[in-house]
Amino acid sequence: MADAPALEIEHLSHPANPSLLTIQQHVMREQRRFPNATGEFSWLFSGLTLATKMIAARVRRAGLSDILGSAGATNVQGEVQQKLDVFANETLIESLSWKETIGLIASEENDRLTAVHYGSPGAKYAVVFDPLDGSSNIDVNVSVGTIFSILRCPDGCADDPAKWVLQPGRKQVAAGYVLYGSSTMLVYTSGNGVHGFTLEPSIGAYLLSHENIKMPARGPYYSVNEAYRDSFPAPYPAYLDALRKGGLGKKYALRYIGSLVADFHRTLLKGGVFLYPPTADAPGGKLRLMYEANPIAFLAEQAGGIATDGAKPILELVPDAVHQRTPFVVGSRDELELFHQMAAR
Ligand code: AHG
Ligand code: MN
Ligand code: MN
Repeated sequence: MADAPALEIEHLSHPANPSLLTIQQHVMREQRRFPNATGEFSWLFSGLTLATKMIAARVRRAGLSDILGSAGATNVQGEVQQKLDVFANETLIESLSWKETIGLIASEENDRLTAVHYGSPGAKYAVVFDPLDGSSNIDVNVSVGTIFSILRCPDGCADDPAKWVLQPGRKQVAAGYVLYGSSTMLVYTSGNGVHGFTLEPSIGAYLLSHENIKMPARGPYYSVNEAYRDSFPAPYPAYLDALRKGGLGKKYALRYIGSLVADFHRTLLKGGVFLYPPTADAPGGKLRLMYEANPIAFLAEQAGGIATDGAKPILELVPDAVHQRTPFVVGSRDELELFHQMAAR
């Protein structure tokens, strides 16, 4: 038989189009960095992404469905729960409960931990989250978000939930947020840089849009609720005056949205500083360590920024309660260095 004609091949310059990289593919690629990864982490992650797509769909039509306003109950924080808080919380718990690799869930909205597959041999991770961040902004159509943190079960944690969940932020396996803003964006880190994915609503996929985000070393904004200024301890008032009077060699503008995820996302992309200092109403700070400060601090450090409680790195703090609060200062290197120089005086 005559030789078959030689078939030409053309090498594809891969990746042909990085923006077709989905979050699932990215997580799979990232977890190959962990020698004993078995795909469980990406399986867990798909529970998070599914739930946030459902939350996004609700947020996008909030005024049309009976999802605005108060749910008529108060949560463990003593805050009136919004209907969307409850919906987001229940959706995340339901979606994650299908993942056998998850042992425990801790949520801002639940007083106690939720045992998912706690006690089963395959349960390796705890997921800690703020299901809906920025609740006060829901009814006025301002950006809100979901914040999550993932912790692995350390040795001997199987029968000790506190040992599993109350770990310092440095131990997070991954962390991130979804911002329900002008677009729906998921930003996460698993310790190898910070990466952003934008939800393509027509296909329901989070596609890579911001690879390896780096926080500028200095920014144009400071972000704080100055209504509480009179109760800020030193050096916060003097620091804000220094920024405003050009202490870093330039003028600043103030931006404050009142949703941590939105205020941080702007700080991550544009630089500057976000602060929630101790106040008269919240002498230990308002923001929660486990599911607000820790995940945001992990992202900030991975992007080249700094995050402290006004003195110590957030990620070094050893939690003693799931809902404990902390003062929070996070942002660019230059603004944080100036803050800590003033704090040291
Ligand atoms: P949550 O809606 O999850 O309770 O979080 C709200 C937090 C945070 O998103 C934001 O930075 C801060 O509350 C705003 O607090 P003030 O309204 O006191 O400024
Ligand atoms: Mn919050
Ligand atoms: Mn919340």
